[in-house]
Amino acid sequence: MAVLVTGGAGYIGSQTCVHLLEAGKEIVVIDNFSNSSPKSSQAVREITGKDFPLIECDIRDEEKLDEVFSQYDIDSVIHFAGLKAVGESCQKPLEYYDNNIGGTVKLLSVMRKHGVKCIVFSSSATVYGEKHTAPFNEEMEAGGTTNPYGTTKLFIEQILKDLAASDPEWSVSLLRYFNPIGAHISGKIGEAPNGIPNNLMPYISQVAVGKREKLSVFGDDYDTPDGTGVRDYIHVADLADGHVVALDRALSVKGCEIFNLGTGKGVSVLELVNAFQKATGVKVPYVITARRPGDIATSYADPSKAERILGWKAKRDIFDACRDTWNWQKNNPNGFDD
Ligand code: NAD
Ligand code: WQD
Repeated sequence: MAVLVTGGAGYIGSQTCVHLLEAGKEIVVIDNFSNSSPKSSQAVREITGKDFPLIECDIRDEEKLDEVFSQYDIDSVIHFAGLKAVGESCQKPLEYYDNNIGGTVKLLSVMRKHGVKCIVFSSSATVYGEKHTAPFNEEMEAGGTTNPYGTTKLFIEQILKDLAASDPEWSVSLLRYFNPIGAHISGKIGEAPNGIPNNLMPYISQVAVGKREKLSVFGDDYDTPDGTGVRDYIHVADLADGHVVALDRALSVKGCEIFNLGTGKGVSVLELVNAFQKATGVKVPYVITARRPGDIATSYADPSKAERILGWKAKRDIFDACRDTWNWQKNNPNGFDD
């Protein structure tokens, strides 16, 4: 039996493939490579010494999906495939709704057709919106998303809840990631954004490697200890561990469950910059600029449910993440194009 990993060539997907293979799972990866390279899967093979099928397939292509499910003995799906740039989603909402929501509906239809009713989904802390105060827990009402990307996550969560309610055979695990950072410890796989990075950590590492002149810190007048935004940065390897245990749980327990995957600790922008400098010895010049529209002051998880039910807890800290990001970045300044 194999787990189908959609979007498995991407940043979080490729790291998760390593952990799945190391846990002895069989995997089948599909990706349309719209934001990734097949080279990441080659690196996963090198890291693990294990082979697996990598198929170019768009999740909106029902016929191709049908072939994949017919060809392989798939019993579960980890669903990473999706577009994820917040700013771009405001410019291209239809593309985001089509790719993320339309694609997920197609995937679920083909799964149902083949009797595969177990799915772990990449959701996001963004579904908590703006109305709650951190730490966010799974009992809080989701909603009030501030951009089409976030709304696709909210809607897909609802679709999956409705599906689980309609048929007791479904197992659905909604994993709400906080802020994934870091890279595989080998430096062979990591985040490789196209163009100017939207997220803090890849921006910091591109400044460190000399690709960008300086970091803009978006506001220092928030109601936080040093005035800069506070987030819950979670090492991608901890996130990958979370998927392995969530999958095992979904394979044995039916129904829909929601888990935060975060550390429970808030870290400010300047704290992350300082941690990066300390962990790597490389200076990261920065300037304070205006707030970025749509940003909230503070976001961090209450991760206690994942610990209680999945026995999962983040083990790595931001220094590990900075060291591993730097190892990946300095060896691959142009990502998988090197
Ligand atoms: P990523 O862009 O590196 O990975 C997504 C992968 O999906 C890419 O390889 C891309 O080529 C593929 N893909 C996109 N649309 C597809 C389609 N229609 N068919 C097949 N493949 C398709 O992003 P990531 O950071 O690894 O994120 C993985 C998932 O986690 C996404 O769903 C994202 O929304 C979610 N997520 C990410 C973060 C984050 O900060 N990175 C936070 C919360 C949730
Ligand atoms: C972190 C902090 C910025 C860049 C986003 C998505 C969210 C999820 C994770 C997918 C904030 C500050 C950033 C920069 C800065 N993705 N910052 N200078 O906004 O918490 O979350 O990624 O699901 O949905 O919204 O992450 O890394 O963009 O920002 O000062 O150049 O860094 O203001 O305080 P964010 P981020």
